[in-house]
Amino acid sequence: MKPTATSAGEVVDEAELLRRARAARNRAYAPYSGFHVGAAVLTDDGRVYEAANVENAAYPLSACAEQNAIRAMACSGSISEVVAVAVVGDGEDPCTPCGACRQVIFEFGPAAMIYASGDGGRPLVVRLAELLPHGFGAKRLAEGQR
Ligand code: THU
Repeated sequence: MKPTATSAGEVVDEAELLRRARAARNRAYAPYSGFHVGAAVLTDDGRVYEAANVENAAYPLSACAEQNAIRAMACSGSISEVVAVAVVGDGEDPCTPCGACRQVIFEFGPAAMIYASGDGGRPLVVRLAELLPHGFGAKRLAEGQR
């Protein structure tokens, strides 16, 4: 991604988006899995939304970091195209978004770049379209509603 000036006057590039995701990971609530994840979402109007995973004693109600960040964007009242998502999970290897997160990102960022990282090595840089080929979205839904 090219460095983007945010509405707050900062410049966000891949490294900065990953830094924000890593910082957000510190706020994870993951007492059950012990697996902490942070995410940072960049929109085309230059805003960044950060979130972490939040688990629940009723395990299936746990919420992923990426989905929390996407919903933070929607709930802010400023829905924009998602251009990039950084995800940082515990462990060495890149933490790629789970299947459900891919679908949630697709809603607002079908062309988004994903920067997936752990604590070792280089991040995996991949288009969402490669992680979720032939994704189902609003266009296809509308086709069936005519
Ligand atoms: N998790 C995420 O936050 N994002 C993902 O894409 C993969 C999984 C969280 C959910 C759960 O709190 C923990 O990681 C273990 O699955």
